[in-house]
Amino acid sequence: MPREILAVAPTNVDPTALARAADVLQRGGLVAFPTETVYGLGAHALNPQAVQRIFEAKARPPRNPVIVHVRDAAAARELVSEWPAVAEQLSRRFWPGPLTLILPRAKSVPDIVTGGGPNVGVRVPAHPVALGLLRVADLPIAAPSANPSTRLSATSGRHVRKYLDAQVDLLLDAGPTPGGIESTIVDCTRRPLRILRPGLISAAQLEATLGEPVVPEEFRAVEASAALPAPGQMARHYAPITPLELQAGPQAAVARAAQVALAGLRVGLLLLRDDPVHSPPEVTATVLRAMPPDATEYARVLYATLHDMDEIGLGLIVVELPPAAAEWAAVHDRLRRAAAPLGE
Ligand code: TXA
Ligand code: MG
Repeated sequence: MPREILAVAPTNVDPTALARAADVLQRGGLVAFPTETVYGLGAHALNPQAVQRIFEAKARPPRNPVIVHVRDAAAARELVSEWPAVAEQLSRRFWPGPLTLILPRAKSVPDIVTGGGPNVGVRVPAHPVALGLLRVADLPIAAPSANPSTRLSATSGRHVRKYLDAQVDLLLDAGPTPGGIESTIVDCTRRPLRILRPGLISAAQLEATLGEPVVPEEFRAVEASAALPAPGQMARHYAPITPLELQAGPQAAVARAAQVALAGLRVGLLLLRDDPVHSPPEVTATVLRAMPPDATEYARVLYATLHDMDEIGLGLIVVELPPAAAEWAAVHDRLRRAAAPLGE
């Protein structure tokens, strides 16, 4: 449990709470706060000891870099050594918002923030609490998602409290986050631009803004199969504790759930709401959730649903794969990683 928890309204944010949180950050403490995507676990980005505490709280591998949140594009430019035209265009169009830009770091950015690498990830979050905190504190905030490494991200204050112990000094609890999954990450240091992590802003939106191709990172993994995975490219991530399996189509998902239920395990079943389900399997052993058929809505509730499933204590979660259409890319990415075996 965090040492101090302040409930704040998601709009009309209480300035006293922000001042208290800003003070904790300035003293090198850790503040968990909502963004429009997921909750972040924040520290003063230019204070390496403070950022080190994030890694300890999350048991995060030391070479995994942390995104730096800033109040506006001008503050982002202070953290980078180059500000290419694409950064200008994307930041103008999508900030504040769920887009992280990877750019060459400035010397002022500590090694621990970049994982020792040459680049830094920057973004201006749109949530009024996050933006308010950045403005009041007037410093860059290094913040990964507020969860133990590889686990489901926290999309509510309750999830943060479930996960993080007294190493967190202050939680600003504004209830559920509107986006539900993490920001889109675009590597602006290479051409074509690469999406390192799909998110709430799609490749099509980025391409429409820039008028040039933006390609998924997976392509590079194929070209350079011997190379180490890029940061954040570990297979199992965003995962519930309960094993999770993907099935194509409602019939296959229902059949698999029935099989597992008959074997005596309680099973969670996530089906798209519009699918007709004619014969629900062994109903007593199955926890059925009807998921939204719209990708944005699905993303908003995905982690909360998986958190709930974890808390029920099931033997397996079976998920019907949503359609393969482009707007589902980010949800597919998270589901694939949640289903990936450990250590791959
Ligand atoms: O929506 C979000 O992005 C949330 C909220 C809190 O802003 N943050 C978030 O942070 O998801 P985290 O640390 O859980 O995931 C950030 C990902 C990691 O996979 C990390 O490897 C990658 O971004 N990343 C950060 N800085 C990077 C860099 N300089 N180069 C390459 N990848 C980077
Ligand atoms: Mg994370």
